[in-house]
Amino acid sequence: MLRRFTTFVFIACLSTVLLFILFQTVSWKDLPQAIGLGEMGGPTQEEMENALPDLRTQQPPMKEPPPNSKGFQDSGVAIESPYPVGTLKPAGSNYTKTLVLPSMQSEDTSWVEAELGDLITSGLLNHAIYVVDDPSAKLRPPENKGHEVMVYLTYIIDHYDELSDISIFMHAHRWSWHNNELMELDSAEMVRLLSPQRVTREGYMNLRCHWEPGCPTWLHPGAVHRSYDRPEEWLVADSWAEIFPNDPIPTVLAQPCCAQFAVSRDRIRELPKQRYVSIRDWLIRTELTDYLSGRVFEYVWQYIFTASAIHCPSMNACYCDGYGLCFGSNEKFDEWFELRLKRNELDNDLKTWEAQAEVIANLRAESETGQVPEEAVIEVPEAGIDKVLRDQIDQISQALERRKKAAVELGKDPKQRALGAGREWHEGDGF
Ligand SMILES: *[C@@H]1O[C@H](CO)[C@@H](O)[C@H](O)[C@H]1NC(C)=O
Repeated sequence: MLRRFTTFVFIACLSTVLLFILFQTVSWKDLPQAIGLGEMGGPTQEEMENALPDLRTQQPPMKEPPPNSKGFQDSGVAIESPYPVGTLKPAGSNYTKTLVLPSMQSEDTSWVEAELGDLITSGLLNHAIYVVDDPSAKLRPPENKGHEVMVYLTYIIDHYDELSDISIFMHAHRWSWHNNELMELDSAEMVRLLSPQRVTREGYMNLRCHWEPGCPTWLHPGAVHRSYDRPEEWLVADSWAEIFPNDPIPTVLAQPCCAQFAVSRDRIRELPKQRYVSIRDWLIRTELTDYLSGRVFEYVWQYIFTASAIHCPSMNACYCDGYGLCFGSNEKFDEWFELRLKRNELDNDLKTWEAQAEVIANLRAESETGQVPEEAVIEVPEAGIDKVLRDQIDQISQALERRKKAAVELGKDPKQRALGAGREWHEGDGF
């Protein structure tokens, strides 16, 4: 029975991977420019077998996360965590933070020191960079299995009694499509701007503000049909019973994707250390592939740290209260992303124009007369349009930058952050 199940899982994984690779190959052309710095390319067999990096560093098997947030911004799902709201330090106090990163030897994590060196020197930021495939590394998990899950749990278990005010769990790469667009997809920027007050108050904060993929619903643990872009869905019910034997299976599990989050010390300690040990034991024992166990946890972390199955705060609140980028209203927030979308479209138009122009230039160069042969079937780009497009792109880029600067300014006001998060604010309150 067990062997049959294992074979089934293996075949399921294999076909998912093949589909995934196929999709990647046909969709690369459509990748927006800002996305995937250094992260292009389908998963190799080696990557499939290694615990890191995981497949989520690739473009997801769906369209680009919509930069436009319309329809979502007001509708942050009420987060009904039974845990108490965290107690803040007096306004103006410092919070200690530790950045926990799982990495492989081949990965470059020098950005941590290079970009955040000032915070490290001043003692406000510690880092714990695990190297999963180096037996001589100072920090490494007991087993190279289960992607980042093993490292995150190992950090918590080994530091349970000496945690920083805030623990930040992130992947090793600096840029990734699943980071926040307003922070240019830059992990360093996210760490720098992250509000320790919001993390302390909420206890748990998903570092990704954008809902897609993951919110407002994602996994339906009861599903009997296997979903192509959610290969873990039908496995969750079985895993759930093993990981949370006392808790009924939620009908939906949802939070923004990709397993990067920050947790307060108090919130981590809401569960006894032994609980993290037993979850890690499950990970060590499970016969699921690293890919699937990682995917299962992507939508389970919020349950561990909030005891709530759905964690989908409003994007505007996440950006404003979480990172100090406040637009002052949901409409202005939407406008920024609409402008950004418009710029992406113009970028694409310009690329098309340039490609057509290049075809013509090549035909001219090849022909003896220096003319495009009459029989050539080509689309002739309209003269001068490239300049018009460049000017428009330039204007929009400047507007985006201007608006972002204004949002940073507004976010320096703690009252604005409270407004953005929809919480009460009194004169003299800090962030
Ligand atoms: C916070 O940390 C910075 C950098 O170490 C230090 O200069 C500042 O005095 C600290 N503030 C408080 C209130 O401790």
